[in-house]
Formats: sequence, structure tokens, C-alpha cells
Amino acid sequence: MPTSPRTFPTLSIVDHPLVRHKITLLRDRATPTKQFKELVDEIAMLMAYEATRDLALESVPVDTPLETTHGWSVRGKKLTLVPILRAGLGMVEGILRLMPSARVGHIGLYRDHDTLEPVDYYFKVPGDVSERDFLLLDPMLATGGSAAAAVSSLKRAGATRIRFLCLVAAPEGVERLAREHPDVPILTAALDRELNEHGYILPGLGDAGDRLFGTR
Ligand code: URA
Repeated sequence: MPTSPRTFPTLSIVDHPLVRHKITLLRDRATPTKQFKELVDEIAMLMAYEATRDLALESVPVDTPLETTHGWSVRGKKLTLVPILRAGLGMVEGILRLMPSARVGHIGLYRDHDTLEPVDYYFKVPGDVSERDFLLLDPMLATGGSAAAAVSSLKRAGATRIRFLCLVAAPEGVERLAREHPDVPILTAALDRELNEHGYILPGLGDAGDRLFGTR
């Protein structure tokens, strides 16, 4: 079950032995790109399981080989995954394995190395935005600048139900995202200590995008 630290009411930490184990492997500088990618994929899938715990269901009839009974179907199936490019891409496949009918939008933001503020260069989501549930994906919640900007872009497009999923969060990022968007629940696998002067999370895992795509 996720836990919510008292200081961050919008934050839930997915605290599960498998998630802790896999996050530790992810942090290890010796973990090669192939394994890093697989771990991000697996952790994202485990987190999506928690993030969708309250999805609405409808009762449906089902014919077993022996008789007709009733079962359950996820109502609406209007889930949309929105990875923040590029590291968020690493979380998509694992979640799609659980929810193959989810749509996938994309938000392109990069962090200006001097100001550390996000610069917007791409935005594409499905058309019926107001009817959809959005899972916004980025493995690292660092300053919170990109996450807050991505949520603002989704809201400008008409989104009202947005959750943010990350693997590692810094308190600074959680605080900023919660301040700018108190209506957006944040799910993380780990809440780390702090940011360094370059905007990296400590102890963190380094640059998630570089480690996912082997561009170190
Ligand atoms: N982005 C990363 O990939 N890593 C960090 O530590 C912070 C932001």
C-alpha cells in the first residue's frame, strides 16, 4: 500500500519490497543500460498497479464454460499515459502491458541548463481531453519545474484528472508541484534527500534519460 508523508499531503510513496529492491538496482552506477531500461519498465508497471487502484468498474455478464456469472470491467477505458520526453518514454511500455487500451500522448520539455526552468517544444494528446484520466510520467521529480509546466499544459488543453508518476522524487520538486497543482496526486517509488546545485537528485540515480538511452 502507498504511504503519504505528513508534510506532503499530495504525495504517496509506493512502498513494496519488490519496488525497493528494483530501485536499489536502478541507483547502482554499475547497472548497464539494458538492465536499467528493464528495471524502469518493471517499476513503472508496479506503480501503475497502485495508481489505478480506484478506477471505476462496471458489472458485466461473463459466460464461463459452465454457466453465466457476473464480472467486472474497467468503466470508460479513457486512460491516457503522457510521458514527458524523453526519460518518461521509459515508463510507457510497462504500464501499457497492464492497460493495453490506454492512449499515449507526449509532452516535450527540456530543462535549460542555466535557469533549470522547462522549455516547451512538443505537445500532443488525444482529442477528448476533458473525458480522460491522465497519468503523467517522468522517472525523476527534481526541481518540479518540468512536471508543473507539463501539468499546466495538460490543464490548458482541458484535462481535469491528472496524476503524476515518478520513480525518484526530491522534496523540492514535490513541494513545488504540490504548491502549483494541489489537485494533482503524486506517486513515487522513493523520496530522496535533496537536490544538488546542478538540479540532480541526491542520492538519486544520475541522469535517467542518459542511463535509459545509453547517451552518457
Ligand atoms: N533528472 C535526472 O535525470 N536526474 C536527476 O537527478 C534530476 C533530474
